[in-house]
Formats: sequence, C-alpha cells, structure tokens
Amino acid sequence: MKFDLTYHKLSKEEYQLLKKNADENPELFWQTQAEKRIHWQTPFTQVCDTSFNPNDVRIRWFQDGKLNASYNAIDRHCLDNPEKTALIWENDTGTQTKSYSFSQLKDEVEIFTASLRKLGITQKDCVVIYMPMIPEAIFAMLACARIGAMHCVVFAGFSSTALEARINDCKAQFIITADEGKRAGKIIPLKQNVDKALENCPKIKKCLVIQHTHNSDIIYGNKDVQYHDIKKQVSATDGYYDIVASEHPLFILYTSGSTGKPKGLLHSTGGYCVYSSFTHELSFNAKPDDVFFCTADIGWITGHSYITYGPLINGSTIVLFEGVPTFPDAGRLWEICDKHQVTTLYTAPTALRTLMSFGNDIPRKYNLKSLRVLGTVGEPINPEVFDWYAQEIGKNNCPIVDTWWQTETGGHIIVAPAFLENAPAGYAGKALPSLNMALLDETGKEITQPHHQGYLVIKKSWPGQAQSIYKNHKRFIDTYFSQFPNHYTTGDGAYYDNDGNIRITGRIDDILNVSGHRLGTAELESAFVSHKLVSEAAVVGYDHAIKGQAIYAFVTLMQGINPTTEIEENLKKHIRQEISAIAVPDKIQFTTDLPKTRSGKIMRRILKKIANRDFTDFGDITTLSDPKIVETIAKDAQRILV
Ligand code: WT7
Repeated sequence: MKFDLTYHKLSKEEYQLLKKNADENPELFWQTQAEKRIHWQTPFTQVCDTSFNPNDVRIRWFQDGKLNASYNAIDRHCLDNPEKTALIWENDTGTQTKSYSFSQLKDEVEIFTASLRKLGITQKDCVVIYMPMIPEAIFAMLACARIGAMHCVVFAGFSSTALEARINDCKAQFIITADEGKRAGKIIPLKQNVDKALENCPKIKKCLVIQHTHNSDIIYGNKDVQYHDIKKQVSATDGYYDIVASEHPLFILYTSGSTGKPKGLLHSTGGYCVYSSFTHELSFNAKPDDVFFCTADIGWITGHSYITYGPLINGSTIVLFEGVPTFPDAGRLWEICDKHQVTTLYTAPTALRTLMSFGNDIPRKYNLKSLRVLGTVGEPINPEVFDWYAQEIGKNNCPIVDTWWQTETGGHIIVAPAFLENAPAGYAGKALPSLNMALLDETGKEITQPHHQGYLVIKKSWPGQAQSIYKNHKRFIDTYFSQFPNHYTTGDGAYYDNDGNIRITGRIDDILNVSGHRLGTAELESAFVSHKLVSEAAVVGYDHAIKGQAIYAFVTLMQGINPTTEIEENLKKHIRQEISAIAVPDKIQFTTDLPKTRSGKIMRRILKKIANRDFTDFGDITTLSDPKIVETIAKDAQRILV
C-alpha cells in the first residue's frame, strides 16, 4: 500500500480508496505522513499510543521521535531555497509592506531566540505572547519553538483581566508584547494592558517589549526589556535550536468551555507539526509557488496552524495582515490578494457576509486572477455567501473549501479538499483520511441515516489532537471523553446528506459562536455577576445576519436597584474590561427573575426562544419554580425588540 501520494492528481475514486486504506491502516498512513513531512533528528519507532477510555485517556504520537518545530518551518527550506519569500507583512493602513525570505526569517528568528535565551528562557518555560499582527509575533512563536519553550499566545483583543487569568493559569514567567498595536486606525495599548495585568501576576520575571508605534510616552519598569536593546547584545550564531521529544508541548492555547474558566489546551510538537502540514497541503492543494493568506489572528488556533506552522513547514509563502477587512475600506482583502498575488485565501463566513454587504463593485476593482483556492472556517457558511464567494471572488474558477475543526483538533477534520469538487454549500464535506467520525444519539447509538441530527464524535485519535488541558487532565477527560466513553465528543451537532457529506448544525453545549469566536456562556455570566450591581445573569445566543450568532443577556439587578441606560452602558463596559470587545452583548434585558426549575437550573431553552423572537410555544413550563416569569420576560422582550 502506498500513502506517499501527490494528492492533487487523485480522482474522486482514488481519494475514496486512499480514505478507505487509511481508515484500515491508520498507523501506516500517519507513519508515511510523518516521515515525508518532518525532519526528525531522531526517527520514531512507534507511531502512536492512544486511548479514549475515560479511565486512561492517552494521546501520544511518534513518542520516541525527536525534532524541532522551528527547524522544520524555517531551516530546512533554507537548505534548498533560501531566497524564497517566507513572509509578507501588510500593515494596518496599507502604506507599508515588509517581506522576508526564508534565510532572512532564519536570521530574525535566530536573533529572537538568542534574546530569549539571554533572558533565561529554557525548555521548562511557558512564554505568553500578547502581540499585534506584526512579523515579530511570528518570530516570537518560532523562537520559543526553537528553544522548546511552550508559547501561549493571548489574542491582543483580550482585556488585561482576561490576560491576567491566562498568565496565572499557565504559570508563565515571561511575556512578550509590543508597545502598542494598531487595528483599523485605532491604537491598542498593549503594554499598558500588560502592566495592569502584571499587578496581579507575581510570577512574571521579564516582559520583552517590541517597539511598534514607538510611542515615547510608554513607561518602562524594571521587569521590562526592550527588544531593540537586547537584540544588539546577541548574535545570530547564538541561535542554535534545541531538539525536543515529539510529545514535548509546543504550545498552550486557551479556548472557552461550556463551564468554568477557559481551558488551556496543550498541543504536542511532533503530532501537531505532522498534522498542520498534512492538512494544509491536502485541504488547500498546497503547491510550492503558493502565496497563502489566512486572515485569522495568531491568537486563535487558525493563526497557529494556518499562518505559522502548517504553511511554513510546507515551505509556502505566508501573508500576515495587521488590520481588518473593512479598513480603510471594504476592498482591503481584495487589494491584498491583488497586490501580493495571493493564490489561497482562507477567511471566515462572518467577514464574507460583511464584505458581501458592500456590493460587487468593490471586489471588481481588483485583479483576483492569482486566486486558486478559497477557504472558510469558523461556522457554517450560508449558501448565498458561498455562491458569492465562488462567483465574485473565485470567478467560478476556484474551489471553495469549507473546513470544520476546533482548537482541540489542531487542524482540519472535515473538509472537501480543493482538488475535488466542492461539497454542497453549507456542508463541510467528509472526514479526512483515517478520521473515524460518527454521529451518536442521546444513548450513544450510532446514527447512520441521512438528515438525522446527532452528536458529532471521533472514535480514534489523530496526530493533531490536543494532549490534555494544561495541568488538568481530569477536566480534559470530563469534558471530552465522559459523555460517550471511548469517543472524543466535539460538542457540535451534525447530520449527513444522502452522499455522506456532513452538515454542522452548531454547538449543542452552552458555547456561543459570535463572528467565529468561541465564547462560553458560563464565562460571560460570571463576568456579569462580578459586577457589584448584578445579582444574576443568563446569556444565550440569537441568530444574527452578520455575526452568525449575537449575545443576548438577561440580567437581574441587586434588590432595590432600578435598571437605567447608564447601568446598561456600564455593564457593557464591564464585560469589555473583563473579557473583550467580542464578548459585549448586543442586547441586555433586565428582568426581576429568570426562568428556573425548582432545583435552580436556568431554562436556557426558553430564553433562547425569546432571544430569537419566537414567542409562540414555550413547551412544558410547569416544572419551573415560577412559570409566570416566562410571560413577563416574553412581554418585556417584545417591547425591547420592536
Ligand atoms: C467550533 C470550534 C477551527 C478554527 C476556528 C474556530 C465551529 C468551526 C466550522 C465550520 C461549522 C464550524 C464549531 C466548532 N466551527 N469551523 N467550517 N462549519 N462550524 O475554532 O474557537 O475552537 O471553535 O467552531 O462549532 O466546534 P474554535
């Protein structure tokens, strides 16, 4: 059996055969991928050791192999093509671009690595990266990987409170930031946010600051080290790389759960590198001359797997964009595609919905002929947006690749690869080779007939799978392996069409997907309750034309406090400070009580209906401690919504 194939030459039948063979021989399949894609300093002898049994969840890939992720993303390509462009950076306003060849990228990362070593960073450390979308953010990630220090990128849109919680959870002693970030013409006070967070992070020893806006008002304290100073004291030759075990963690990335605080998912080095490289090539039909433009932020898994690791490991040229799709105008993405001859564009339905609303004249101003493949991620893509993307952007000449996956999966799981025909609009396609997926009903029985919704689960491990939750393996097991033992539960609902394509229907747990950003209702509710005037809060999602889902909060104030618009504004400000601007609710409705069962459980089902303007039939509400409250809330809601 041969698994070392050139995918884009495969016909539909050949791909099906590949899938069948990989499903039957997963170890040989992944062994072939790992040997072909990665330079192992010490080859592995065991492909995997994995178990989804809740008593002993183990996710180990290529265990006795040794490698360095940064070497695989950079140095290897310097051997055969050092002058090839590795990274193109486009600034916020479109007035500046920078470009780095693989050899220049190596120099930059080596200097960065040597600087981190000088600060005392070793393989035992976790380094928080709180950075704008500038080349140094990529250098920082790859420099950590070069040392074997875990990085933990925190989205630069997160508030100082959210940053503080993550720093303390991952026990970081070092943080890398910039003086300020720029986004849509606005300044983001990153260093100031870090200073505020560090007031409650005693473990942090050093804060490395990159000068980006060069604002001279920034105050530097004794923990601060400025990158432009330290880099002068080191040389690139200091920047050798460390070799780590395959299972050595490459990074921690926080994501929202349905309960409790965000979870720090831990990704391994070997398995993750193999998987991000494999999926980048297979899904997008990656070719050596690609210019790959992923619009995600590096603070999310998409930015890890499809800006930094996957494409660079495959030797592609990446485009890094500091700004947003609508600034200075809604032609920004198309302008970048035109200017840098982008071949593959990977973005989110929410961005496409916004850009589509500006009309066709804008994209028609640009030459989009270089585009070969168009990808989307984050939520189901609406058929009309899918068609617009295909026609107006792809000129009916580019496959649309809808990719379903999660922070936990490390890379794509369900996809219709670019070398095959599109999956029907709104369907993510089929599971990748060796990904053994199923839909289960409440009792754990497998659903095989089309158009019957079930819980989407995966039966066997794959190399990109997160190893654990940082320092909380029990929570990892409880969250993903306890509802259906011996299965990984994704938290999504889905059904098949008649051809076995999978349609994702959305989260079935209490997680919201707002503009492709994942937010836990528990996290939002506790942020509300942390405000001194709030007694109780329940947060649900409602359908929104641009965001996919928007946030609706039902809030009960403390006894004797009357709701005012000022309180409403203060609550919004509070949420922005506690979490981020993404988490600010679109609607806040004040109520005297919430619909609760006699045991005190909030009936979100009812609140969801109300938030979605469905006031018709609330089903059985007799189990509520005060059934009359439903009518009151519904009546008030109608007033608010009109
Ligand atoms: C959740 C994971 C994977 C990177 C971005 C989000 C939803 C993701 C799709 C898609 C329908 C999707 C799911 C999933 N989701 N991609 N193509 N179609 N839904 O990563 O923050 O970990 O969120 O996003 O609900 O569980 P994440």
